[in-house]
Order: sequence, then structure tokens, then C-alpha cells
Amino acid sequence: MRRATALARAALLIAAGAAVVLASGIEARVPRPAHDTPKGERCVENTEFMRRNHMKLLVHQRDRTVREGVRTKAHSLANCVDCHAGATTRSVIARGPDGSEGFCAGCHAYVGVTLDCFECHAATPRAAATAAAEERP
Ligand code: HEC
Ligand code: HEC
Ligand code: HEC
Repeated sequence: MRRATALARAALLIAAGAAVVLASGIEARVPRPAHDTPKGERCVENTEFMRRNHMKLLVHQRDRTVREGVRTKAHSLANCVDCHAGATTRSVIARGPDGSEGFCAGCHAYVGVTLDCFECHAATPRAAATAAAEERP
């Protein structure tokens, strides 16, 4: 029930945001989940599928890894972060200097779904984390 409501709300809000942009031809004044353009041409699955099902991929992936020791690269959380981290913030949760929200955290705040994954998992891309670690004396 909660799931259906949250999804319906997300769809409505996204549609409303898009309608305002189309109608006005200018930046929407209503708050909407703003995020940088992800890296790469496309997502690991098509965008519409991801919008609805990314949570199932991740939770399924986590269960398989933790319980059975199976790892596949395409649906790994680190892989999502590599593409979806903001260009300026290099993070999927941090808010940018212009006030834009992180890709994961921004939409989640918007739809009111808690996202506690990044208490343990890195919210920054692996390349950036490695580079930063190498820069340290
Ligand atoms: C376009 C909006 C949007 C974006 C972007 C987004 N999410 Fe979500 N996320 C949702 C919605 C809506 C739900 C569904 C809530 C439900 O089913 O109750 C959800 C659910 C989840 C869940 C399941 C949470 C739970 O308690 O059941 C996880 C895990 C998750 N998202 C991870 C992520 C990660 C990681 C990212 C960034 C790589 C991300 N999401 C980006 C909208 C988004
Ligand atoms: C309490 C710490 C903790 C939290 C919170 C946590 N994880 Fe994990 N997660 C782990 C550990 C430990 C592993 C196994 C070690 C590894 O694979 O890096 C793991 C593995 C994974 C994997 C498989 C490896 C990968 O990178 O793909 C996925 C996917 C994953 N977690 C997703 C999530 C998602 C989604 C959330 C939030 C709903 C979450 N985790 C929250 C600790 C945590
Ligand atoms: C190779 C780069 C890449 C990887 C890896 C990747 N994505 Fe994406 N993702 C994209 C692109 C590009 C889009 C399409 C944006 C568009 O159509 O406007 C997208 C779209 C999405 C959307 C829909 C966003 C919206 O505005 O509705 C979600 C949610 C999402 N990705 C989550 C994830 C999750 C979760 C993972 C890891 C399992 C992941 N992505 C892995 C590049 C990637």
C-alpha cells in the first residue's frame, strides 16, 4: 500500500514538473528532483524500468551477494554510483553548491522514502575515492 502510494505520488510529481517545464519553456518553479545528467548513454536497464524497479534490482542484488556470495557487476550499487554521482559533488547524496540535490537522495527526499544505504556504502564513485586516497600523504 505504502509502495503503491509512493510510486503514484512520484509519477504525479514528475509529470507535474515536466508539464510546468513544457508549458512555460523556462525552468520549473515547483520543486522537483533535480539531478545531473548521468554518465553514459543509458542505464543498466531502460529508464522507465529503472524508475519503477531499481529498488528490486538492488535489494535482490544485495540478498544474492550477502547470502550466496554471488556478484554481478551490472546491478551493483557501486556501479550505480559511478554513473549517477553529480559532476560537481561527485556524490549521489550531497547537495550541490547551486542547491541541486544528489541523484539518489534528492528523489528519495522528494517521494519521502528513506535511503540508509550510504551509511555503509560509498556515495562517491570508486575512481574518485581511489584518486582522493592516493592524493593523501
Ligand atoms: C526518480 C526518483 C528516484 C531516484 C532517482 C532514485 N530512487 Fe530509489 N526509490 C524511489 C521510489 C519512488 C521508491 C519506491 C518506494 C516504495 O516502493 O515504497 C524507491 C525505493 C528505493 C529502495 C527501496 C527502499 C525501501 O525501503 O523499500 C532503494 C534501496 C532505493 N530506492 C535505492 C536508490 C538508489 C541507490 C538510488 C540512486 C542510485 C535511487 N534509489 C534513486 C525513487 C527514486
Ligand atoms: C549496515 C551496513 C550496510 C547497510 C546500511 C547497507 N549495506 Fe549493502 N552491503 C553491506 C555489506 C557489508 C555488504 C557485503 C560486502 C560487499 O559486497 O561490499 C553489502 C553488499 C551490498 C550489495 C552487493 C555489492 C554491491 O556493491 O553491489 C548491494 C547491491 C547492496 N549491499 C545494496 C544495499 C542497499 C540498496 C542498501 C540500502 C537499502 C544497503 N546495501 C545498505 C553493508 C550494508
Ligand atoms: C552506465 C551508466 C549508468 C549506470 C551503471 C547506472 N545508470 Fe541509472 N541511468 C543512467 C542514464 C544515462 C539514465 C537515463 C537518464 C534519462 O533517461 O534521462 C539513467 C536513469 C536512471 C533512473 C531513472 C531516473 C529518472 O530521472 O527517472 C534511475 C532510478 C536509475 N538510473 C538508477 C540506477 C541504479 C539504481 C543503478 C545501479 C543498479 C544505475 N542507475 C546504474 C546511467 C547509468
